[in-house]
Amino acid sequence: SRTSLWGGRFAGGPAEALARLSVSVQFDWRLAPYDLAASRAHARVLAYAGLLDAEELGQMLAALDDLEAACASGSFRPTVEDEDVHTALERGLLERLGTLGGKLRAGRSRNDQVATDLRLYLRDHARGVAARLVELADALVEQAAQHVSTPAPGMTHVQHAQPVSFGHWLLAHVQPLLRDLDRLRDWDKRTAISPLGAGALAGSSLPLDPVVVAKELGFTTSAANSMDAVADRDFAAEFLFVTALAGVHLSRLGEEVVMWTSQEFGWVELDDAFATGSSIMPQKKNADIAELARGKSGRLIGGLVTVLTMLKGLPLTYDRDMQEDKEPVFDAVDTLELLLPALAGMISTMTVRADRLAAAAPVGFTLATEVADWLVRKHVPFRDAHEITGKLVSLCEARDCALDELSDDDLQKVSPLLTPEVRQVLTVESALASRTTPGSTGPGPVADQLASVQDKLETW
Ligand code: ARG
Repeated sequence: SRTSLWGGRFAGGPAEALARLSVSVQFDWRLAPYDLAASRAHARVLAYAGLLDAEELGQMLAALDDLEAACASGSFRPTVEDEDVHTALERGLLERLGTLGGKLRAGRSRNDQVATDLRLYLRDHARGVAARLVELADALVEQAAQHVSTPAPGMTHVQHAQPVSFGHWLLAHVQPLLRDLDRLRDWDKRTAISPLGAGALAGSSLPLDPVVVAKELGFTTSAANSMDAVADRDFAAEFLFVTALAGVHLSRLGEEVVMWTSQEFGWVELDDAFATGSSIMPQKKNADIAELARGKSGRLIGGLVTVLTMLKGLPLTYDRDMQEDKEPVFDAVDTLELLLPALAGMISTMTVRADRLAAAAPVGFTLATEVADWLVRKHVPFRDAHEITGKLVSLCEARDCALDELSDDDLQKVSPLLTPEVRQVLTVESALASRTTPGSTGPGPVADQLASVQDKLETW
């Protein structure tokens, strides 16, 4: 008995090399629950249209339930003969129903089916990815809450720049994750459109209501154009953009954790459970999770490039090239589902060395801008203030001392404008406290930011 879905006009079976190339069931089998859900919805509209009677519908739905249970328990598995998930499941249905099973294929095609299955799968799994992103954001927020007033040397070009609150720094990693969450939510609106009813590409001559099917599957409505419905993979490409960008955000966080845990920084110590050792160097404690966050961003970006390149120049409507859409999106989901819990655990269990951060905060003349701003408040043009402060720094460098170690005399020699009063701004605490505008790094605005981030995360 032939299990292929398309053998009718062919003299013999496919060549071994063709079969091996075209088979997708080894990776698309994970769509089975979604394909079965779509089949149930399709069976119902066939019945509404009078193409299945009540008894046939009952048998069909019972067989689909039975098949679903068999798939879940593993007693029904795809075989090497099954080209794809749709082929395998039709075989399962025929095994249970005989010829009645053959009625389900009316008015639909694998083209609208696969597009529907993949949308269902991704909408479902995007919710899981979002939940894991929220957990990582929560872990960062919890650490940030402990360090609202912990000073740290904020950097540009990896050079000490200006003192910041370490809590503010951690929240600067939360903000992009909140945007990723927003992007996933927005992506879902466009993905909640059902391709079912498009058939192969032209819709159906059978009186099947695509809107009813759409609603039954949790979509908002059905596709406006049957050709677009089967040709469109924007939802896959856009999902991959969102996951690639999230991967980039995780990679930047990962890189910072790698630096922070190095001997040279020593700002953070990882919990033993979230660090690895070396097979030869007994003293080693490595931030492998952070490094894998950095490394795995490569495959997330690669997935996006794969799908965009695959789609570029494809004529409407369905082309077999599009079968290549699945592995990148599955891999993106798998990658984030592995990575995010590990990162969340690493962040929530790490120990922040507030003493080392505070000691590093003023190093490298990070308070120089405070001096320049102080001069500006004395009505010195910033250009001159910058020049005067630069001279101050170079004097300190020559003396190998810090700004606050210069004598009143030294200050006067650099510029008569530099009265002893300037010392008031030469502390990290005053630098932070003076930053009271919204979004800046002072304790007030950071506390406000923390509260608003916590609010947003709670409603997710
Ligand atoms: N396995 C195919 C895919 O993933 C299903 C659609 C096949 N349609 C076709 N006309 N060959 O794209």
